[in-house]
Amino acid sequence: MAVLISGIAELTTHDAERPVLADAALVVDGGHVVWVGERAGAPAADEEVDVAGRAVVPGFVDSHSHLVFAGDRAPEFAARMAGTPYAAGGIRTTVAATRAATDEQLTAHVARLVQEMLRQGTTTFETKSGYGLTVRDEARSLAVARQFTDETTFLGAHVVPVEYADDPGGYVDLVTGPMLEAAAPHARWVDAFCESGAFDVDQARAVLHAGEGAGLQGRLHASQLGPGPGVLLAAELGLAAVDHCTYLTDADVTALADSGTVATLLPGVEFSTRQPYPDARRLLDAGVTVALASDCNPGSSYTSSVPFCVALAVREMGMTPTEAVRAATLGGARALRRDDVGRLTVGARADLAVLDAPSAVHLAYRPGVPLVTATWVAGRPV
Ligand code: NIG
Ligand code: FE
Repeated sequence: MAVLISGIAELTTHDAERPVLADAALVVDGGHVVWVGERAGAPAADEEVDVAGRAVVPGFVDSHSHLVFAGDRAPEFAARMAGTPYAAGGIRTTVAATRAATDEQLTAHVARLVQEMLRQGTTTFETKSGYGLTVRDEARSLAVARQFTDETTFLGAHVVPVEYADDPGGYVDLVTGPMLEAAAPHARWVDAFCESGAFDVDQARAVLHAGEGAGLQGRLHASQLGPGPGVLLAAELGLAAVDHCTYLTDADVTALADSGTVATLLPGVEFSTRQPYPDARRLLDAGVTVALASDCNPGSSYTSSVPFCVALAVREMGMTPTEAVRAATLGGARALRRDDVGRLTVGARADLAVLDAPSAVHLAYRPGVPLVTATWVAGRPV
């Protein structure tokens, strides 16, 4: 059944020729966009939904989140706001809580966060394991995640768990061996936290290599807490994306531009850790593809809101509103190597967010206001 969405004051399509249309309409059928253009030229449809002068953007593609966990770390956040620096070691607090949770508790918790995401316009999201760190807990974390998304990532190499504190090499052997074997059937991607205090570049390389051998594609956490070799590794291996990119050298920026690896920026982290924001302007000016994502997790960024990240990116990272919306939609799709989402062109999945505003600029201009009035996934409001 064809549905005509009319009354769109501003439609962001990301079409190469006409990325934004005024007074537009869209026809969706069979879950996909089948027609886009000015309202005046719209074909007849079985049903019409008039959005009455609102803006429509592609559904957000949140290419980086950690939704499978139990508990929270509000006291750690409060201590940070009183001056205690962020340290990756806090991850172990969540690991203990996650191991103690039942599958049902983990599933219910992910479902709650996914509802938050949908309400805020996110229609595609990636999510990771990484708070289990045993063979059983990593595999079940991914099995839980798979109920909600196909974009699942094995992050056994998040930190070395306490029981391996004296044997980090033994832990990497576990991750690249039995843990990978148990996790791979539930995952599309493999990831590692390449940072001092987590895994060094050789360990990250070993994890990515083993993951690839098990049929997973690589992505990486790097340069979150300081400059390091992870960004160059990601570019060398031609990974889909390298995420955080808060501390970059000129060589990192050049390598990203040359490799086409997407730099995923996660401003919720800098908000919540009081670190300096990454310099998106520098990356865009160098021709790097930038994605914006939430990194929703209980430690460094407990927000599921992509609109909040868009507002931060505009205010703090040198992006224009148009660039930030693009990074949160098309950029996220590129970071996940998807061409069916992140755009509203003919053939794309009909995933969209209707904003209670006449233009997408309002996402940054009206920070903190719940502007998403409807979210559509595959041609239906959810
Ligand atoms: O992406 N950087 C590593 N992992 C998460 C933080 C996890 C946590 O603090 O629990 C991140 O920021
Ligand atoms: Fe992360």
